[in-house]
Amino acid sequence: MADKIRVLLTEEEVDQKIREIAEEINKAYEGQSVKLICILKGGVFFTCELAKHLTVPVSMDFMSVSSYGSGTTSSGVVKIIKDLDEPIEGENILICEDIIDTGRTLAYLIEVLKQRHPNSIHLCTLLNKPERRVKKQVHVDYTCFTIPDQFVVGFGLDYDQKYRNLPYIGVVEL
Ligand code: IMP
Ligand code: MG
Repeated sequence: MADKIRVLLTEEEVDQKIREIAEEINKAYEGQSVKLICILKGGVFFTCELAKHLTVPVSMDFMSVSSYGSGTTSSGVVKIIKDLDEPIEGENILICEDIIDTGRTLAYLIEVLKQRHPNSIHLCTLLNKPERRVKKQVHVDYTCFTIPDQFVVGFGLDYDQKYRNLPYIGVVEL
């Protein structure tokens, strides 16, 4: 049976906010270039949409990590499934995530990437669920939307690999 999905953020709201965040990033990186690191698979829609509105020189690379956990929460044990194709030494890195939940995935990833000596490392996310944060040290530089503790899908986010393609953010009514 099809799940019922309640719209939390419309396609228009999401698109508009990404444009605003892109403007902020354009200002922050003026005169510099930025390398977007897309965290697969969830970050792919956000990263692409954001990249389209950036006017500073952009390059992109992709990384896939799995955080072992059951169902709808991560465990903190993170494994790199696909690493970056290129080194990041001396570059301005902007990690693009779909959602920061407990923060475990990003806490791990930031430590890994720091060891590769980028010039700078910042974090941007489509969604932020601060109520669920376990790793308080994870500093989010750019957040499109702060949402309550609800399990959401769409715009890259999945429930059992479904609904990533929805152009809006919705809550699965279980
Ligand atoms: P964290 O390590 O708990 O911050 O986990 C972040 C990852 O968990 C995200 O990149 C998502 O893949 C997944 N996740 C967390 N919350 C949600 C949600 O509400 N919907 C879909 N995926 C989620
Ligand atoms: Mg993810």
